[in-house]
Amino acid sequence: MSKEYKTPDETKVEMTELVLPNDTNLLNNLLGGRLMHWIDIAGALAASRHSNKIVATVALDSLDFRHPIRCGEMVILKAKLTWTGRTSMEVKVSVFAENLQSGNIIQTNEAYLTFVALNKEGNPIPILALKPVTEEEIKDYEEGKRRRDERLAKKAVI
Ligand SMILES: CC(C)(COP(=O)(O)OP(=O)(O)OC[C@H]1O[C@@H](n2cnc3c(N)ncnc32)[C@H](O)[C@@H]1OP(=O)(O)O)[C@@H](O)C(=O)NCCC(=O)NCCS
Repeated sequence: MSKEYKTPDETKVEMTELVLPNDTNLLNNLLGGRLMHWIDIAGALAASRHSNKIVATVALDSLDFRHPIRCGEMVILKAKLTWTGRTSMEVKVSVFAENLQSGNIIQTNEAYLTFVALNKEGNPIPILALKPVTEEEIKDYEEGKRRRDERLAKKAVI
């Protein structure tokens, strides 16, 4: 029997990257654009894992760069679904930097992205529902619905 829903755990993706000189600015810190690209990929993987469909990014909420990530550090991106609509999905991506000499790990960013599942013609297609399980997932889901309403209101104004 086919599934009726998936849990956030089933959508989890962890991606690691090593910051190399080509990824950095003149201060040897990771370029913001490179990090945004990795966040987008990690989010798209989680959305694809949930929907088993081709997905496109439709929104990325504001992104703060709280700590520089240095050349030679490992970047860990953890993505999981927080909310689903009919064809759209919200994914939370948490970013950590690990200094491989000291072993120190800090969270550097957190971002919410929205993806839409598409058919082969590029039109939105319905997806499985997400069923939050833990207290934190239920809270994330409720807040995800609110964030989605805010995004659509902003889109309508633009
Ligand atoms: C994805 C795309 C085909 C959707 O087309 P559309 O006309 O917006 O389709 P719809 O209005 O039916 O919206 C589809 C879903 O996306 C949601 N959505 C659309 N814009 C959104 C936004 N800015 N924020 C949040 N959700 C959004 C809708 O609410 C709807 O969700 P639901 O089905 O869960 O209710 C179209 O927006 C597109 O091609 N965008 C460009 C995608 C892209 O090139 N991304 C970068 C490269 S991957």
